[in-house]
Amino acid sequence: MSVCLVTGGAGFIGSHLVEALVRRGDTVRVLDDFSTGQRQNLAAVAGDIELIEGSIEDEARVQQAAAGVELVFHLAAMVSVPQSMAQPRRAEQLNALGTLNVLTAAQKSGARRLVLSSTCAVYGDEPSMPKTEQSPLRPKSPYAVSKLTAEQYCQLFNESFGLPTAVLRYFNVFGPRQDPSSAYSGVISIFVDKLAQGATPKIFGDGEQTRDFVFVSDVVQANLAAAGTPAAAGQVFNIGTGRPVSINRLFASLAQLLGGPGTPDYQPPRPGDIVHSYADPSLAARVLGWSARVEFEAGLRQTIGAA
Ligand code: UD1
Repeated sequence: MSVCLVTGGAGFIGSHLVEALVRRGDTVRVLDDFSTGQRQNLAAVAGDIELIEGSIEDEARVQQAAAGVELVFHLAAMVSVPQSMAQPRRAEQLNALGTLNVLTAAQKSGARRLVLSSTCAVYGDEPSMPKTEQSPLRPKSPYAVSKLTAEQYCQLFNESFGLPTAVLRYFNVFGPRQDPSSAYSGVISIFVDKLAQGATPKIFGDGEQTRDFVFVSDVVQANLAAAGTPAAAGQVFNIGTGRPVSINRLFASLAQLLGGPGTPDYQPPRPGDIVHSYADPSLAARVLGWSARVEFEAGLRQTIGAA
């Protein structure tokens, strides 16, 4: 049993992590400013957690939230790439400086581990696949740059400030509670939403592009493993399945599960899209004993069941 802080705990991934921590008997505090997170996401555990409303930009608030905590899971961030293109300073402010605030507060309170949620976006459009943690980094957006800075602050605190940290680079996370409402939402949440409304999903390009879709409960397990494994300190881990899935296969699976049109609405490719992206997750397997367990179609069924 540990005292935990989850920043961004009202978000899509954060709320699933909070539920898992509550289930295992930890004391859980959530810091969230509800800019993209929602109270509703925490409805099942509202009576079991301490909820602090505030931003990671607010140093005093962060210190208050981190007082006495042993484990910090840092998920609060600007999560939208297009938003970061429109507001690069804001992305830096939240994702880089906000992380610095959380690291400083965690160190002051003597936390024994901080786990950062990072992203495969740090690899950018460099074409070698699968991505290993040694693959070249070519961040292509303020979002990716700010996340890479956050990663580097984590390494620095691990090496020089006495706070053990671990970094998780998520590939394409999906599952219940992912917000489908924006044009830049994850493709799975958009397709589920469209098919449920009887509409025809759009596929940008020929649909043969691939992504490494990892189910949210597996991402939660990766966080728990990164927090509980001493050897994870100072390391960066890819969190993906290692199995690329095409957008055409995704469409076919969902159309079968939900009923709907036999063919998608093919559109021109989305500017800036990369064709293939998938992880080599073997380091996480070796060091954390973690690998993705939820099979793709099983994850889709769970996503739909809760949609
Ligand atoms: C993800 C991020 C993106 C970031 C990129 C960098 C999300 C939601 N997107 O993009 O902001 O730049 O990582 O690593 O996290 N697609 C369709 N129809 C749709 C929506 C998407 O065909 O309605 C296609 C896209 O063209 C793409 C694939 O589905 O080829 C996946 O799209 P998306 O879910 O946005 O993820 P990424 O492209 O990996």
